[in-house]
Amino acid sequence: MLYRRCGKSGVLLPAISLGLWQNFGEVDAIANCRDIVKTAFNHGITHFDLANNYGPPSGAAEQTFGRILKEDLAPYRDELFISTKAGYLMWDGPYGNWGSKKYLVASLDQSLKRLGLEYVDLFYHHRPDPDTPLEETMTALNLMVRQGKALYVGISNYGPAEAAKAIKILRELGTPCLIHQPKYSMLVRTPEDGLLDLLEQEGVGCIAFSSLAQGLLTNKYLSGVPADSRAGRGLPNGAITTSGITEETIARVRLLNEVAESRNQSLAQMALSWILKDSRITSLVLGASKPAQVIDALTALSNITFTHQELKQIDLILA
Ligand SMILES: NC(=O)c1ccc[n+]([C@@H]2O[C@H](COP(=O)([O-])OP(=O)(O)OC[C@H]3O[C@@H](n4cnc5c(N)ncnc54)[C@H](OP(=O)(O)O)[C@@H]3O)[C@@H](O)[C@H]2O)c1
Repeated sequence: MLYRRCGKSGVLLPAISLGLWQNFGEVDAIANCRDIVKTAFNHGITHFDLANNYGPPSGAAEQTFGRILKEDLAPYRDELFISTKAGYLMWDGPYGNWGSKKYLVASLDQSLKRLGLEYVDLFYHHRPDPDTPLEETMTALNLMVRQGKALYVGISNYGPAEAAKAIKILRELGTPCLIHQPKYSMLVRTPEDGLLDLLEQEGVGCIAFSSLAQGLLTNKYLSGVPADSRAGRGLPNGAITTSGITEETIARVRLLNEVAESRNQSLAQMALSWILKDSRITSLVLGASKPAQVIDALTALSNITFTHQELKQIDLILA
């Protein structure tokens, strides 16, 4: 495993981390969940990414991971870097969503119970809240660290201007922002518009999510939608749907697949390598429905450099 320093901090993260947004809910077989997590850990993936609302139902992924921790990984707690988040709808009423101190503090307490942990290594505010003062949200993150319930804090889905303000407030509070988690893939390149530069300048790490565009940047949708794929299963909560897979996108994906073949990589491997070619990226959070997908991703690490010509070719396909 390749480990990269997270911004200007003491933390090293594996270049590939494992995310539990999908495939770790109540409907998912615990044996497969356990296999995915153990395969990851056995190959040096020390960082596991969760959130209060991962499931379905919300909370289920933390419960599943808590069970695996207790039954399989308890002796290795200090070899693991575990994150969770809050910011999306979690419970009814005015205190179960967005970014108030009331919501975030209660949510972390609930997450710790589900995970069976005394503290998480990293707690994120999951998305910016347009109505709560940023000072209140950041003060809540600072409080969690002071209380010993989180070692580090981060932000996710913040644009560059909001991120700059959050980073400044956290620094003034004495709890530096460890990391930002944006959506970043060959198909979604918004972090290139100022965010990556800001994070580098501020010494904050960056961990990309949905770098395979939920499976679109693999060869699985090239000849239709397989029934056992994420799109084929018709999952709730923002998962990719059949209608999100257009002919136009598949035409580009087909061309990207040809570039991957010329690099002796699968498209999935090239999509991950393409993210990791940038030294401003600390890690990426991979999603996996089977242990074999974790193994496939790890192979990407043996080729994370691109020639100028390959990059130009990819830019042209994506233009
Ligand atoms: N901060 C946020 O707001 C946010 C939002 C979304 C996600 N995340 C984090 O990022 C993690 C990853 O997100 P994601 O699941 O969207 O990521 P992704 O890595 O883009 O997609 C993962 C899916 O792609 C398919 N796949 C993976 N490897 C493959 C391979 N080698 N060949 C073919 N198909 C493959 C699998 O779907 P199949 O089921 O089709 O096999 C897998 O579940 C989440 O678990 C979560 O931790 C964060």
